[in-house]
Amino acid sequence: MTRRWTPLDTARQDRSPYVDALTAFIDAEHVRWGIPGHQGSPEAQSFLAQYVGDEVLRLDVQTMVEGIDLGPGNPFDESLALAAEAWGARRTWFLTNGSSQGNLVAGLAVAGLGGSLVAQRSVHSSVVDALAMSGLEAAFVTPDIDTSLGILHTLTPEALDGALTAAPDAAAAIVVTPSYFGACADVEALVAVAHAHDVALVVDEAWGAHLGFHPDLPTNAARLGADLVIASMHKLGGSLGQTALIHLGHGPYADRLEPLVDRAMRSMRSTSESTLLLASLDLARRQLAARGTETIGRSLASVQRLRDRITADGRFRDATPRLRDFPSVVDIDPLRVVIDTRAGGISGHEARRLLFHELGHHLELSTDDVVVTIVGAGVEPDADAFADALLRLPQGSTAHREVSSPPPAGPRRMTVREAWFAEADVVPVDHAVGRVSADSVAAYPPGIPNLMPGEEITAENLTFLRETAAAPFGHVRGAYVPDLSLVRVVREA
Ligand SMILES: Cc1ncc(COP(=O)(O)O)c(C=O)c1O
Repeated sequence: MTRRWTPLDTARQDRSPYVDALTAFIDAEHVRWGIPGHQGSPEAQSFLAQYVGDEVLRLDVQTMVEGIDLGPGNPFDESLALAAEAWGARRTWFLTNGSSQGNLVAGLAVAGLGGSLVAQRSVHSSVVDALAMSGLEAAFVTPDIDTSLGILHTLTPEALDGALTAAPDAAAAIVVTPSYFGACADVEALVAVAHAHDVALVVDEAWGAHLGFHPDLPTNAARLGADLVIASMHKLGGSLGQTALIHLGHGPYADRLEPLVDRAMRSMRSTSESTLLLASLDLARRQLAARGTETIGRSLASVQRLRDRITADGRFRDATPRLRDFPSVVDIDPLRVVIDTRAGGISGHEARRLLFHELGHHLELSTDDVVVTIVGAGVEPDADAFADALLRLPQGSTAHREVSSPPPAGPRRMTVREAWFAEADVVPVDHAVGRVSADSVAAYPPGIPNLMPGEEITAENLTFLRETAAAPFGHVRGAYVPDLSLVRVVREA
């Protein structure tokens, strides 16, 4: 069971010590002689002030100030401790370069454990970047795929167990949950499998910063025993763009990981982080932890209204419950609605395009068959307006294109890092088979990299990539040219 509701001490969490300290500093109105060099002057930065307002310039002040984020027991550290408490972590760090930074930090940190990494093959590109930076060797495990809706899910404990058995030198594993579509893995079982292999479990929870802040949401990974967790607060957690968190769990690797994460954080963070971004993390944590049950409750009611409308109107289908039909999925983030538009006679991509250009709704995500509405924690979207817009979509094609499962990856011929730094050539596709890929290249849908740096390029993988690139709305991410007529390969000696 992954859902475990842990009520928070809301009175304690209803504070933002870092923001209070910043506010006192700003209100003291010192004449500014340092950075940021706009020095709060709307006259000096008239264009910027016109765009964001004078107040934003006033609030954007320098970091590393005694009594704010420097010195023992400072308010910034107090806010970090409140965040750790809110997510049930042993320690939390604020990130101002997204979960991308979090994955780089985690990659560098687990490299310090002295073994290899087992990674869900659909990890974010920042994990592959972390392999190049850290030199970690990695083996990849393919997640569940819904080939009918073209949706990627996550990893079963059995798949992780198999991969760890095949990689006896692994020191860490990384999984992605929730998925982009809101499918949640059995984190508790994954932790148990990882720990049985004496491996630390890293969870990329980029899409789940809000989990655990309402009894009807799945529990967050740190509370379920994960050793390191990366969460994009800016995604559904409500803070400003770019902000994220990395949590250290309480598990058996915490003592070894803590100094490694701390060291990696020093390498991967700016020495002049934006106080606006950091403040937004403090305030969004306060919002979730002190008000989440009430505000997320309202979001859930809006989302339920949308589901009810879709079901009552009957033209489209709420496909969210279908996610649970896959073995890796044990729970679903209810703040996302996966809508099967194909059932209503229009492809997901076409529906998204018309909703954006003609009906005033901008959705982030679609596949050939579905669109996904994503609702931020506390936001109450107008469910009826959206359901009405859906019904105004024209009938199109109901032709359904089954996504094929990607062929197996080619054999690994060198590490990601070796391939990353090797000299590369661009060759015509006919000459690429048997060569070593210099790039990570993924066909969407479903979005699993078919080529990784250092892997041999097989004919089956090239065919899969080219067929996807040629399909309507199919695309290939990371390709040297969109149609894959040219491929970047590692230069042969
Ligand atoms: C699973 C996953 N991890 C990490 C990231 C990177 O997150 P960010 O954009 O916060 O850097 C993303 C981005 O969408 C993601 O989907």
